[in-house]
Amino acid sequence: MSVRSVIAGTGSALPRRRIDNAELAETVDTSDAWIVERTGIRSRYIAGDGETTASLATEAARNALEAAGFQPSDIDLIVLATATPDQTFPSSATKVQATLGIADCVAFDVHAVCTGFLYALTVADSMVRSGNARKALVIGAETFSRLLDWEDRATCVLFGDGAGAVVLSAEDGPSGILATKLHADGRHNDLLFVDGGPSTTGTVGKLRMKGREVFRHAVVNLADVLTEVLADAGLSPADVDWVVPHQANARILDATARKLGLPAEKVVMTVDRHANTSAASVPLALDTAVRDGRIKRGDLVVLEAMGGGFTWGAAALRY
Ligand code: UT7
Repeated sequence: MSVRSVIAGTGSALPRRRIDNAELAETVDTSDAWIVERTGIRSRYIAGDGETTASLATEAARNALEAAGFQPSDIDLIVLATATPDQTFPSSATKVQATLGIADCVAFDVHAVCTGFLYALTVADSMVRSGNARKALVIGAETFSRLLDWEDRATCVLFGDGAGAVVLSAEDGPSGILATKLHADGRHNDLLFVDGGPSTTGTVGKLRMKGREVFRHAVVNLADVLTEVLADAGLSPADVDWVVPHQANARILDATARKLGLPAEKVVMTVDRHANTSAASVPLALDTAVRDGRIKRGDLVVLEAMGGGFTWGAAALRY
């Protein structure tokens, strides 16, 4: 049996402040009814003073380490997916490393926006299977609230902040990551982007999105990549116990599941509570479903995400 990356533990973290749609409607020209009907979102968490991408990532990582029963010193690799790092450099992964007190390990950020966690997981899995790492922290963490234009009701109601993490452990056995599949198509930059950056405007910029077009691409790309990753793992949709999708919009989740003939009961949905937390959304949803007892050891789980770039990807794993 070959070495696989087994998810030994999961963790997550949310900012202290929760804002529901009614509170948002006090300052933004929107309504609870519109947001719930178009997106399924009811609330989101927004980072306050002292809460940053790296601080949320560290808390999620600590929770994942505790769930796995590992010490920080066991970790030899940290891959952190984010589009909202604490600083342009150094990486937020190295801040997590320092705060956890890990003397030496490999640590770097991966940037694929909402698909970031799938990219990070794939890179970490490759390093584990090639023998370059034995125990890895893979984290998705974002403070997207800091990129939002609060005057643009078409985007600011959709996003929230948070972090999720998994600990991967190299093990021989039937469990672990079975297949991953990633894609990118950089021609779609103008449909979902931030209008600033260190090398162009010298500013952080604000998020801009043509939501309807993104929606259309999302359903097609996500259904396709799920089909691909299951085929690579030698499985069919009927084998799937749980789908843990990127939490952008409940209607995208429903449409993707329908396209694959997967019942809605098998789809983990947290977008109602967390909104779209970009790279954090998949590990946040995974941790939620592990901790509430839905996802159990031995279950066949598929993860999927799509985001700016466009980028999209999926992973199939035996939990
Ligand atoms: O994480 C990366 C991936 N991102 C996504 O997957 C997001 C994909 N897109 C979506 O989820 C949806 O397209 C949205 C939720 C962003 C928008 O839903 P939609 O059904 O496509 O609405 P729309 O943008 O076509 O807007 C419909 C109407 C417009 O009014 P008119 O032009 O019909 O009069 C908007 O001005 O809704 C209006 N509107 C709002 N009304 C109240 C847009 N935002 C709001 C709002 N509150 N927050």
